[in-house]
Amino acid sequence: MKNIYLDNSATTQVDPQVAEEMVKYMVEKYGNPSSIHLYGQQAKYALDDAREKVAKVINAGIKNIFFTSGGTEADNWAIRGIIEMNIRKNEKAHIVISKYEHSAVFETCRMLEKKYPELITVTYLKPSSLGYITPEQVEDAINNDTKLVSVMHVNNEIGNINDIGSIGKFCRDKGIIFHTDAVQSYSKVPIDVKAMNIDILSASAHKIYGPKGVGMLFVRSKVEIYPLLFGGQQEQGLRNGTENLPGIIGFAKAAEIAQNAYETDIPRIGTLKKKLYELISGSVDNIIVNGDIDKGYNGILNLSFEGVEGESLLLALDLEGVCVSTGSACSAGSVKPSRVLLSIGVSEEMAQSSIRFSIGRFNTMEEIEFAAESVIKAVERLRSMSWM
Ligand SMILES: Cc1ncc(COP(=O)(O)O)c(C=O)c1O
Repeated sequence: MKNIYLDNSATTQVDPQVAEEMVKYMVEKYGNPSSIHLYGQQAKYALDDAREKVAKVINAGIKNIFFTSGGTEADNWAIRGIIEMNIRKNEKAHIVISKYEHSAVFETCRMLEKKYPELITVTYLKPSSLGYITPEQVEDAINNDTKLVSVMHVNNEIGNINDIGSIGKFCRDKGIIFHTDAVQSYSKVPIDVKAMNIDILSASAHKIYGPKGVGMLFVRSKVEIYPLLFGGQQEQGLRNGTENLPGIIGFAKAAEIAQNAYETDIPRIGTLKKKLYELISGSVDNIIVNGDIDKGYNGILNLSFEGVEGESLLLALDLEGVCVSTGSACSAGSVKPSRVLLSIGVSEEMAQSSIRFSIGRFNTMEEIEFAAESVIKAVERLRSMSWM
């Protein structure tokens, strides 16, 4: 049996059609979009076309898409770019985010409140035990200084899908800027930035079978954002530097494929997740599901196995060729439980016993059955060792 990759929320295999398209823009059409000659024109045309494809997925205008080096950069820019406007005016700014935001948002806010203690305050909303942030929580948290609300669309560890349309509507009515981290949802869960009243949105190519190192920030026309990089007036002078054209081409191709395959991909991935859960829960007792398994994103299944250390299970599965992830982070030699799981009220012990299975377009039913069998065997073995 070949290796089974069930870590598609960490990153995805580049679709061969994407790779093929990218190569053309490295070895044939390698011009700089800012050059005036034939090569430059070819590159500029391709850049415009790519922007249109990436924008279409979220019903955005092309002038509102700014290419970045990935989701982390887009998230950092979204938060800092908005708050910088207030800092420059020496104006107080209150930010509302959730406790389970990705570190790209979470740590940026922590940095800002530490660096500008007189000006910046942050409220960290606690998700419900099922893993949701509600518009009512946002409403309760805001004050007269609230300038920005950032709530992620799909949570990367548990797969919950937040009602960002309602949060967006609330923020728009109050005149507060609303950012959403859509890195895990872009092209996988329907998004319409206009209908959902989204002001700023981050996405990343490598989560959708595109290349690493490229992403984008959508910024609504009326939103003022401070430039991220200064230079030669690329990306409307807001994110300067020669564009990563092969990466952008790959991102656009991946977005186009995902959009065309949406109707088949997403339900099929959902069937695989359901099967994986049925097989595991049918044979292993004392497990808990983290997040909302029924309404969450089809590709993410997060389970805690009582009495089993997540890291040990991950390594046992790895030996079988099954690649998954734990939410725990290794820092200074100790394994810390996932901030996301703790935020939804999972105990430290169960958080340390969690595994995230993330299923993608290239997984098959045969792989799921093999993975489930490997999990059942490994849990049984690890439990018999620890309970001896
Ligand atoms: C929800 C979320 N936001 C942001 C990021 C960061 O994206 P990138 O890896 O493109 O920097 C990730 C990556 O795991 C993510 O899952």
